[in-house]
Amino acid sequence: MTRLQLPGFPWDSLAEHTARAKAHPDGIVDLSVGTPVDPVPEAVRDALASVSDIPGYPTTHGTAELREAAVEALSRRHGVTGVDPDAVLPTIGSKELVAWLPMLLGAGAGDVVVIPELAYPTYEVGALIAGATPRRADSLTALGPETPAMVWLNSPSNPTGRVLGVDHLRKVVDWARERGVTVVSDECYLALGWDADPVSILHPDVCGGSHEGLLAVHSLSKSANLAGYRAGFVTGDPALVADLLAVRKHAGMIVPRPVQEAMRVALADDALLDRQRELYLSRRELLREAFTGAGFRIDHSEAGLYLWATRDEPTDDTVAWLAERGILVAPGTFYGPGGGSHVRVALTATDERVATAAKRLSE
Ligand SMILES: Cc1ncc(COP(=O)(O)O)c(C=O)c1O
Repeated sequence: MTRLQLPGFPWDSLAEHTARAKAHPDGIVDLSVGTPVDPVPEAVRDALASVSDIPGYPTTHGTAELREAAVEALSRRHGVTGVDPDAVLPTIGSKELVAWLPMLLGAGAGDVVVIPELAYPTYEVGALIAGATPRRADSLTALGPETPAMVWLNSPSNPTGRVLGVDHLRKVVDWARERGVTVVSDECYLALGWDADPVSILHPDVCGGSHEGLLAVHSLSKSANLAGYRAGFVTGDPALVADLLAVRKHAGMIVPRPVQEAMRVALADDALLDRQRELYLSRRELLREAFTGAGFRIDHSEAGLYLWATRDEPTDDTVAWLAERGILVAPGTFYGPGGGSHVRVALTATDERVATAAKRLSE
């Protein structure tokens, strides 16, 4: 057996800065991992409990009601049309899907998986798990004549908050279809547009109404505070989703039945999403002002859950400077070599902690 060679787990390397930030007399403001801090909505908790006494196995495909709720939410919230509920597949959060997708789709040695220049680290890990080769590229021209097996898109981006416009997305889809390349769009921040309106790869303006060769990955972690429940889904090309379902049935990759019910209720409730958006928007305004006031420049960040901030110095110096003030952020290098002079600031702290960070930055 060959031992799988994966990069180190990035967060483990942050221990020293974490200890420094925790030593602040008024406590740490943790803006590093983008983990939700607001309560799980009561209706969602009730939904979870309402089916907690079903002893049998849930289905891998999820309940028909959950799949229907996903179709309706995509249509209402994002203008996505033409999704057959059969082409929706619940996932145990989206991270596991990101990590296993190249392998589940049959990518392997000799295949290239394109990931963004600055990217959520799990895209690279997923390619490596499959034995494929990850290639960082933000443009089709950067790829040259190479034909990859699949291309990851992530708009709004983690970490930069960049949004890919309809024209950009359409070009990628047309290019991929000409070559038989699968395009997978990680849309876990799609509902968090601030200065730009993020668009799904499955929107008719992008894909021309056909989902062939396309997958969209969605998560309820950030939009409904369900990171702890592990709740996501993938949808798009019915044939690709059927392939995924077939393998995942065999492999036991099943979302627990109570979580399926919680997802159904969360997907049907737009007021809940609107409330969460308001919270993140006000934290974003406060942090943006505070970081800018402290001499930072914010790049991109027009959507999503992060500010991509820089003082045009090595990222480690910035992380250390902030840690001295009790503020923990993620170094840009976690996301790729191009992140060497940026830090990623998550909007996921309570109002009280965000106000504390702003105060410290103004001193
Ligand atoms: C771009 C991106 N994709 C996927 C995930 C995974 O989210 P989850 O597994 O909670 O659905 C994250 C989490 O931060 C992310 O930033």
